[in-house]
Amino acid sequence: MKIVHAASELFPFIKTGGLADAVGALTGALADRGHEVSVFLPGYRAAREHPDAAKAELRLRIKVEMGDQFLSGDVRAFSPRKNLTVYLICREEFFDRRAPYGNGERDYEDNAERFIFFAKAVVETLRLADLQADIVHAHDWQAGLIPLLVRETERRHGATLALKTVFTIHNIAYQGLFPPAIFARTNLPDELNQIDGIEYYSQISLLKGGVLFADRVTTVSPRYAQEIQTPEFGCGMDGVIQTRVEDLSGLLNGVDEAVWNPATDVLLPARYSAADLKGKSACRVELLKRAGFDPKFKGAIFGMVCRLTEQKGIDLLLANQDFFLEQDVNLIVLGSGDKRMEGELQALAAQAPKKIFLSARLDEAMSHLIEAGSDFFVMPSLFEPCGLNQMYSQVYGTVPIVSRVGGLADTVLDADEFPATGTGLMGAPSVAGLSDALWRAQQLFGEAARYAAVQQRGMKRDFSWKVATAGYEKLYSDAL
Ligand code: ADP
Ligand code: GLC
Repeated sequence: MKIVHAASELFPFIKTGGLADAVGALTGALADRGHEVSVFLPGYRAAREHPDAAKAELRLRIKVEMGDQFLSGDVRAFSPRKNLTVYLICREEFFDRRAPYGNGERDYEDNAERFIFFAKAVVETLRLADLQADIVHAHDWQAGLIPLLVRETERRHGATLALKTVFTIHNIAYQGLFPPAIFARTNLPDELNQIDGIEYYSQISLLKGGVLFADRVTTVSPRYAQEIQTPEFGCGMDGVIQTRVEDLSGLLNGVDEAVWNPATDVLLPARYSAADLKGKSACRVELLKRAGFDPKFKGAIFGMVCRLTEQKGIDLLLANQDFFLEQDVNLIVLGSGDKRMEGELQALAAQAPKKIFLSARLDEAMSHLIEAGSDFFVMPSLFEPCGLNQMYSQVYGTVPIVSRVGGLADTVLDADEFPATGTGLMGAPSVAGLSDALWRAQQLFGEAARYAAVQQRGMKRDFSWKVATAGYEKLYSDAL
């Protein structure tokens, strides 16, 4: 099949979260299965500075209609592996910035312009380069307009750009909401500026362009596919989602074993496997040193890696700070984002600098070291579309502590509830739920044989992308 993906992140070129890992692994796996895969990505500075992208060639100069203006852009392309072409939509004014979405304090003022431009540039390239896609698959709000623009452009030009379109919701909390005046920049017919179009409570939602107009809608776990149909998890979009249930499915992400495998991980000081955990001890010592802790510490190490946002349950962790202050445990957090949360975590670390540590930055190597060197991985998300770290944790022999929501509930089995098969600990997404799980973790850590059994079961689980890739292939062929 000829499959075109469009997303705002793609590992290893640009990453702020799991979107990059998921799109990177899926597109790579599809290419390896022999499909002809293209991925469109904004030409962010970081992506353009990646050594592979330095070889990118100028393929096309385009003019994109934005309201009553035409803005020019360059489309550059390179091929990082067989059957895979990455297209960078370049316009320095929009994408040559230090970070993809904002300056750290808040989102860029012109994000609507930037991502409408991106979506239009992708569709214009499909038209001019005549890519003849079987499937155009767009991800999240930044690419949300694409399924709609594909059909509108086909109508305007009497052309076929894609046989079918697919839209994947990686997180319904991010809806690409902008003031109504921005509609004019889309050049879409006025009837689309309504409830059946991309109008949303007197604003414009770019996400809605994907949800309503793609032939198939997917999200990243079966449970989240159910949850987003409810007011509790739908973030106001549950009604919109309900209109698409017949075309909606939840396909679980996997683990990219080329990147996340303790037996081959080049970012670790030592490698290991379920059969021989010596390397994991070496990672533990290195992690303790990096945090400035006693390298001979024998108690449980709780690790955490995440964007600091409400979603990730940082406030539940903070409300449980007495556990970390009073128990003979260490807590090591890698995360950046919300400044209030960062400040509170920093203040907590300052109270107990020998046992609580925060690194408030993006650090790929440290994220691997935490996965490898910890005994428990804490992920008390309030909601979690899929979540990748709880899967990485199991593969790395680090028992995950998660909330019973979304993809977390689909990928972890509680070891107290299921003594023979459990691979982690799971609680309600609440202060009490996390507290209970932390105490059960301490208990488990004290019982070495039981801990080892839980750890071994996690390490032997198969989270490879094979299943997910087959699921997308089936979805594509069913749609076609
Ligand atoms: P989300 O996409 O909601 O952020 P996921 O669990 O799907 O959550 O994926 C998060 C990804 O981002 C993981 O690969 C994780 O290791 C990575 N990550 C999050 N914060 C950081 C950080 N500060 N430094 C390095 N990697 C991070
Ligand atoms: C989003 C979600 C996360 C998911 C990731 C990849 O960022 O928050 O749960 O794992 O996308 O699909």
